[in-house]
Amino acid sequence: MKIIRTPRSMTAWSERLRREGVTIGFVPTMGALHDGHRSLIRAARLRCDALVVSIFVNPTQFSQTEDLTRYPRPIARDRALCREEGVDVCFEPTAEAMYPEGFQTTVTVPALARRWEGEARPHHFSGVATVVTKLFGIVQPDLALFGQKDYQQTALVKRLVADLNLGVTINVRPTVREQDGLAMSSRNRYLSTEDRRAATILYRALQAGRQAIEAGRGTASTVERVMRQTVEQEPTARIEYLTLCEPASLEPLEHVKRRALLLGAIRIGAVRLIDNVVVAGPDRRQRASRPGHP
Ligand code: PAJ
Repeated sequence: MKIIRTPRSMTAWSERLRREGVTIGFVPTMGALHDGHRSLIRAARLRCDALVVSIFVNPTQFSQTEDLTRYPRPIARDRALCREEGVDVCFEPTAEAMYPEGFQTTVTVPALARRWEGEARPHHFSGVATVVTKLFGIVQPDLALFGQKDYQQTALVKRLVADLNLGVTINVRPTVREQDGLAMSSRNRYLSTEDRRAATILYRALQAGRQAIEAGRGTASTVERVMRQTVEQEPTARIEYLTLCEPASLEPLEHVKRRALLLGAIRIGAVRLIDNVVVAGPDRRQRASRPGHP
């Protein structure tokens, strides 16, 4: 496995392979790799000839209150995981190489970034959109893979790729969970034993919301109440948002007809957790149960 540190050498590597007709898959990450990242890497490995993973803790997507310097950086373990999974290149640029003096262009996706995570973290998505656009320009992948765990991020990336004609196919993979349902995240390591137990409440709330929809109680007020009441059973959990929304626009949904997205963020102590599930509404389920619609 090659380790490449400069954008210029990364692009040179990709350009050479593309000239030979090799397809390039790409998994952007901030490192501290776990089985969620691993599933993206494995899925990418099956779908392309050459595979690049980037490890870059992007400073511009952190707010001042979030501690960038505290973000875990177990680089030797991350490289070992990449090697194990047959990654061809680990791209590890420095912040100085990504944002040299004079840097000023940013990418924003205003409507998709406004709500939910965007409300809690005002500059976060502009940081993500900018770095993803830059990474696509540097790596020039045919295919890039993202996790459903960060649902709003996937919606935003799909939008910017279409809007800016970036020509990269985006593949979104399901959220990988611990056995008790907690979505894997590099932040889970900050949970104490007691908080780790409490953390499953978010997924349980989303499941309760899903059950309400499947039982035909698909109005926002009912679904959101069911989710809220579930989280309230856990005294250490603080709700940031628990919402029913439309999966493409992420706008609030009053009533579930086709597909719906249940989206949530809670805080347990100092740790902020996000999760989501997509649910088929009554229209979808009826169509799916008719012959010829598997
Ligand atoms: P990071 O948090 O390292 O995540 C990298 C990729 O792994 C993202 O697409 C994320 O959705 C996915 N991922 C994380 N946990 C997952 C899980 N439990 N199951 C499935 N996929 C999971 O997301 C970022 O980095 C950054 O914002 C980035 C896109 C790299 C831009 O800096």
